[in-house]
Amino acid sequence: MNVLLAGGAGYIGTHTCVELLNAGHSVVIADNYSNSCPEAVARVEEITGKSVVLYEADVCDKAAVDKIFSENKIDAVIHFAGLKAVGESCEKPLLYYRNNIDSTLTLLEAMEKYGVNNFIFSSSATVYGTSDTMPLVETMPTGTPTNPYGMTKLMMEQILTDTAKARPEMSIVILRYFNPIGAHESGRIGEDPNGIPNNLMPFITQVAAGRLSQLGVFGDDYPTPDGTGVRDYIHVVDLAKGHVKAIGYSADHKGVEIVNLGTGMGYSVLDIVKTFEKVNNLTIPYVIKPRRAGDIAVCYADASKAEKVLGWKAEKNLEDMCFDSWNWQSHNVNGYK
Ligand code: NAD
Ligand code: WQD
Repeated sequence: MNVLLAGGAGYIGTHTCVELLNAGHSVVIADNYSNSCPEAVARVEEITGKSVVLYEADVCDKAAVDKIFSENKIDAVIHFAGLKAVGESCEKPLLYYRNNIDSTLTLLEAMEKYGVNNFIFSSSATVYGTSDTMPLVETMPTGTPTNPYGMTKLMMEQILTDTAKARPEMSIVILRYFNPIGAHESGRIGEDPNGIPNNLMPFITQVAAGRLSQLGVFGDDYPTPDGTGVRDYIHVVDLAKGHVKAIGYSADHKGVEIVNLGTGMGYSVLDIVKTFEKVNNLTIPYVIKPRRAGDIAVCYADASKAEKVLGWKAEKNLEDMCFDSWNWQSHNVNGYK
């Protein structure tokens, strides 16, 4: 298939692009580089030995999106193009609502105009809100996300569900990601956040690289085995392969399907620190800090639906995730710069 990756120059988009190209699909990327750079796409081409059709475009821009659909025969769209910093979304909610929702509407309108029916959406475990019941199952009611970023994901899930009802010819797969970490085994592509990282793994790799002095562990008084927060970390290459399966699934199915992409395993912050230290033979200095506002104690997936419906299961373990994260960061101390 010819797949349009909106936001395909980013962290998950580049890894998905590699897996799609390796599986024999062709790829068109549209990205405005608000959180990425063309170098990342050049490296995808280097890894795969295949080329990508690349547009510098804001997918909220109707004319730019129309041009892409008119110049390429698109069979399916994967929508990664979102702003994703939780803290920033509290400071600039309108920016987040405008960018994340407008991009979705613009892509869906262009798909309707050009008769493209297959849509894969990057959603998040954040839509479950502050549920205390674990693991999180797709059939559970969604909760109230604790921030505007999470609200955009919940709203977009509603928009997609309504769209699928109104357009029965469509196939919409909503993928709820848990905590993606790791990098391609080549060490050529990986996560390259702007400024000081919000997320745990890029913070750890930047401490290891000497860019930051120590990790702050946000709370050690949660009701978890070691008191630190527990999450379902998933290797980004496994996650990328989940998208290839979703593309295959969407070719034969209609309607909306919501699927968790996680491993089903929960690891604490200190599990991550210790595993990272062990596999990379490094020491990560850390201090215990107060809990971070909006954090929950525990979050992990019931990953069985992905296996049943998509035939997908995460294959890489925490050691792989920690090794590959450092392999990327240590070979690219300043990211793509
Ligand atoms: P990322 O920031 O690396 O990638 C997003 C890409 O979209 C970037 O290249 C950015 O430049 C681009 N973009 C943003 N707005 C755009 C617009 N209007 N037009 C064109 N391009 C635009 O983030 P990521 O980690 O690769 O995440 C991809 C998607 O997955 C996002 O929607 C994110 O919300 C979602 N998600 C991410 C995580 C995570 O922890 N990384 C977890 C759950 C869901
Ligand atoms: C993981 C654990 C922190 C940083 C976020 C979004 C979610 C999704 C994934 C997009 C928590 C602890 C972290 C640090 C720490 N993104 N931590 N020190 O919060 O589970 O999820 O990213 O959709 O929507 O909310 O991920 O990596 O920020 O935190 O102790 O410097 O690490 O408290 O327990 P989170 P995270």
